[in-house]
Amino acid sequence: MKEKRDIYRFLHVTPRRIFEQLDQYVVGQKHAKEVLAIAAYNHLKRIEYLKFGGEVSIRKSNILMAGPSGSGKTYLARTLARILDVPFAYNDATAFTEAGYYGEDVEVAIGRLLYATNQNVNAAENGVVFIDEIDKIARRTGGARTGAGSRDIGGEGVQQALLKILEGEKIFVPLNVTAHWNKYDYVEIDISNILFICAGSFSDMEVSSDSKPIGFFGEEAPPQREISSEDLVKYGFLPELMGRLPVRVQLEALSADDLVTILTQPREAMVPEYQRLCALDQIQLDFTRDALLEIANAALKQKLGARALRAILEKVLHPILFVGPERAGERIVIEPDDVRRAIAIAATT
Ligand SMILES: Nc1ncnc2c1ncn2[C@@H]1O[C@H](COP(=O)(O)OP(=O)(O)OP(=O)(O)O)[C@@H](O)[C@H]1O
Ligand SMILES: [Mg+2]
Repeated sequence: MKEKRDIYRFLHVTPRRIFEQLDQYVVGQKHAKEVLAIAAYNHLKRIEYLKFGGEVSIRKSNILMAGPSGSGKTYLARTLARILDVPFAYNDATAFTEAGYYGEDVEVAIGRLLYATNQNVNAAENGVVFIDEIDKIARRTGGARTGAGSRDIGGEGVQQALLKILEGEKIFVPLNVTAHWNKYDYVEIDISNILFICAGSFSDMEVSSDSKPIGFFGEEAPPQREISSEDLVKYGFLPELMGRLPVRVQLEALSADDLVTILTQPREAMVPEYQRLCALDQIQLDFTRDALLEIANAALKQKLGARALRAILEKVLHPILFVGPERAGERIVIEPDDVRRAIAIAATT
């Protein structure tokens, strides 16, 4: 019986399993990984439920992520889509414009999803649409905040347009977003099951002090503050739009220790990657723990979180990568001084 088989399928996808897989790639952010795992599981469950003609409406668990630059927002969303094995489309909210203006219509976000699936409408209908820089389309009135003037580029109009796709059911989207299209190249797609994940750094957001801390007390993790709808409306978002993003996730700034772990431990860690690269030249590359900490602290100084790590590592390894095969057979150990020197050279050139 079909139904039974599909229920069986759920016995081996659980929020915990999704969490454990995220954990292999994403360092720290325990709470965010839990919230995402639950939302993703509900997303899958909802799709299955509707497939069997479920009648009670299960609300979509669209997600809003906030957190500092380089803390893993985009990485989490991409990794999640990969784990779920659903198509993923990355979008930048600042490229969207109100309907009728020059720029991207929000429908293009769905078009990208279709493109990611090679125009497979069925697959796209269960995909994940990621919208980055959502904080940049907040409505700005007056000049109260820093950079206020530059931020109100039709923000509210774009929010209205986004609202339409977040609550929409069927829309027409261009079949191939990369090509110039005419009115015959559109296809109808049911967007009611697409999971939307919006993210932004909200770096200038003032979180009201009475917003309630969430998470489990007494555990090792500090209690997290949830961004309330009120905070978001005050920041310049339409209440209706925030109502469509009910799952709120707050990422933490990564510590130096987290950054060292990111360099060395996860599935896609950079240090093992460079070690493999050097091993191909018969060079054994090693880093002292203090050298890794030095790199981490340099990244923290740049306030770019993990985003800064690769560029720093490239600078540090530049002299070694340059001589590469000439030092075959050697063991090269990177010390804190090597890191400091590389960064000092970079600063003067
Ligand atoms: N928590 C993390 N664990 C492992 N790697 C991470 C983590 N956070 C960031 N990274 C690494 O840093 C890169 C940049 O991170 P990401 O793009 O997710 O940052 P972001 O939070 O979206 O920042 P921004 O606000 O600047 O877009 C990722 O591609 C990944 O390699
Ligand atoms: Mg990002």
